[in-house]
Amino acid sequence: MPVSYKDLGLDNTRAMFRKAFEGQYAVPAYNFNNMEQLQAIVTACAETRSPVILQISSGARKYADQTLLRYMAEGAVKMVRGMERAHAADQAIPITLHLDHGDTFELAKSCIESGFSSVMIDGSHHPYEENIRLTKEVVAYARERDVTVEGELGILAGIEDKVQAAQSTYTQPEEVVDFVGRTGVDSLAISIGTSHGAYKFKPEQCTRDERGILVPPPLRFDILEEVEKKLPGFPIVLHGASSVIQDAVAMINKYGGAMKDAIGVPEEQLRQAAKSAVCKINIDTDGRMVMTAAVRKVFVESPAEFDPRKYLGPARTALIEMYKRKNREVLGSAGRYGKEF
Ligand code: G3H
Ligand code: 13P
Ligand code: ZN
Repeated sequence: MPVSYKDLGLDNTRAMFRKAFEGQYAVPAYNFNNMEQLQAIVTACAETRSPVILQISSGARKYADQTLLRYMAEGAVKMVRGMERAHAADQAIPITLHLDHGDTFELAKSCIESGFSSVMIDGSHHPYEENIRLTKEVVAYARERDVTVEGELGILAGIEDKVQAAQSTYTQPEEVVDFVGRTGVDSLAISIGTSHGAYKFKPEQCTRDERGILVPPPLRFDILEEVEKKLPGFPIVLHGASSVIQDAVAMINKYGGAMKDAIGVPEEQLRQAAKSAVCKINIDTDGRMVMTAAVRKVFVESPAEFDPRKYLGPARTALIEMYKRKNREVLGSAGRYGKEF
């Protein structure tokens, strides 16, 4: 039986992006695959009074089971509303359940039918006209159900879904008006130099600071500005926006890991982007790394430990702190729906 997101207490992205645009901040889109990640994301966002987009990739859907994930998201909404009642909050934070990097109409349809309030259809690796055709098809289905759709133009370097792109293809500002007009998307992901994963830039693209840490080339804010001029007031999305927190890299390496030259997007640049038309910032890798660092520490320091709560618990605590800091210092989304708890 298809279910509407409206019956699950979820929101689409329309009103939250309008408010983010006007308030010059970005809504966090955090990926989750398991209970501890989801608990950390919603706890951090409820406590900081930040809107939140819970993001599920097709890989996450396969890993955790699509039915279970839908009930987990419903449970997360109920958990947040309980926290709001306990703190007598006078506003509720909006919560979106979003498909990340949907690659087929069937996948987007299946997510919408199971209660997603927003979907991404990523046709960026197709030829332009095919991207338009596929995106339009999803928009037509989503619109009838008041579900919002994110499209993408330009290819991020690294692993874009199942497509390996060695080189990024920046979004061409001359295409955006035609793409948005013909597809009817509600938001647009663009490529301005970010990429997915923990190795966003090759050492040869970077310089090194006095500690030997790589300093990446700056994002192409000139392309973002051109896009903003062509689509005034339109919500833009940044994928591949983990900063690859260097403390997490160091902790992973200290406790037996091997993540040499892992490098992300500097947080000052993400803060700058959040003040622009960028209304949604996607972060997955930072969560994975913070979790891994905390688990590795327990394994090394307490090798006799075998209760998963004893290592997933500290990982969840570390994630909550990281997401809260991102909301406050990077996205600027904290405190937008009342005072922090
Ligand atoms: O953009 C990709 C996200 O980080 C999801 O990654 O496909 O490994 O779940 P995944
Ligand atoms: P990161 O790999 O930089 O966290 O990007 C995540 C993302 O874009 C999910 O769609
Ligand atoms: Zn992405």
